[in-house]
Amino acid sequence: MSNPKFEHVELKLCNPTFDSPLVDVVNELEHLRRLRLGGSTPPDVFFQLKHIFHMLESLGSARIEGNHTTLADLVDATIQDGGTAGGGDQMKEITNIELAMRYVEQAMEPGAPLTETFIRELHEIAVRTLEREGDQTPGAYREGSVRIVMSAHLPPEAVAVPQYMKELTDFVNHASAPKYDLMKVALTHHRFGWIHPFSNGNGRVVRLLTYALLIKYGFNVKDGRVLNPTAVFCNNRERYYQMLGAADTGTTKGIENWCIYVLEGILLELQKVDRLTRYDYIEQKILVPALRLSRERQLITPDEHQVLLEVVRLKSAKSADLKKVMPKLTDNQRTYQIKKLVELNMLQAIYPGARQYAIRFTHNYLLRGVIQALTEEGFVPGFMEK
Ligand SMILES: Nc1ncnc2c1ncn2[C@@H]1O[C@H](COP(=O)(O)OP(=O)(O)OP(=O)(O)O)[C@@H](O)[C@H]1O
Ligand SMILES: [Mg+2]
Repeated sequence: MSNPKFEHVELKLCNPTFDSPLVDVVNELEHLRRLRLGGSTPPDVFFQLKHIFHMLESLGSARIEGNHTTLADLVDATIQDGGTAGGGDQMKEITNIELAMRYVEQAMEPGAPLTETFIRELHEIAVRTLEREGDQTPGAYREGSVRIVMSAHLPPEAVAVPQYMKELTDFVNHASAPKYDLMKVALTHHRFGWIHPFSNGNGRVVRLLTYALLIKYGFNVKDGRVLNPTAVFCNNRERYYQMLGAADTGTTKGIENWCIYVLEGILLELQKVDRLTRYDYIEQKILVPALRLSRERQLITPDEHQVLLEVVRLKSAKSADLKKVMPKLTDNQRTYQIKKLVELNMLQAIYPGARQYAIRFTHNYLLRGVIQALTEEGFVPGFMEK
């Protein structure tokens, strides 16, 4: 590993044999791609969970390269400042990735072409104003050579970067049979790392790019699903690097194994998150336990607990709907309970001015309980807690 050398490798699709596990995983993912998720989860609950998953995604991506923020730190910061304000450099790095994910969702559409401008914009958003993990020239390809720490591969000379990036976007945009789409997602992730077009931030950008390509190829992650591609890579950094390294050799086996690794990881994630489209699951396994926990920690009063439980059961509720669970309270007292919870940001009118309320759990103490419930249900990679 002491003296890595650059070696050109051709970028091309693989054509696995019929008995390859790559064929199996592609088929299973194709099935999920076609599946229309007609879930029972109300959109506002779905989007709040999605927000939390984006937090986890950004934290995971930042932590791969040594950001030491823990999930507990991030949750505290989100509760305190609504997740928007400054924080230190490490918190900023995470916020940048969240902003970049938002940009991906705005700018990428199913079937849209991938452009280099889009990729450079991802870089600009991900690294701007960072000290430790920033870049001298946000949004611009590197002008000098780079090395990848812990890797035997030497990326191409800076002068060759534009032509390799053009080749990569052409490869993505070139019309080919849809059965190759998923393979393209995996191959692009590796090729991008192999080119290493930026001086720093390549890992963060390539994980964002993977998210963008899943949208491009119709995985409906914008509104129907929550998918964290980073969960595939961040659980085990050694394995991520080892699989990338094997693909660097350009051998059929190395490349095929890389694709299997990426796509099996994505499949697992999709199977997990698709549970969240069922409201009964969310109610019983996430929200009710989260409220219980908040009550145990005395973050909410017994009355507030009752109100929130009933709102969760009904998906949204008016003051009169709460009579059953709070028979002793007068109309005014019930309205007062609701008003307090609105002030605490734990309830919100379902549209401005409505007297019907739904639960909010992303920017208040309930977030802690929700994160704990998600952890218990296996949605939070273990390493984030340390
Ligand atoms: N052998 C390899 N071949 C191709 N790509 C690689 C290889 N080893 C690492 N990479 C990619 O390079 C990234 C590291 O590059 P860089 O430091 O520029 O990115 P970063 O965002 O600052 O850090 P990190 O990706 O570690 O979070 C890895 O995350 C991975 O995506
Ligand atoms: Mg780096």
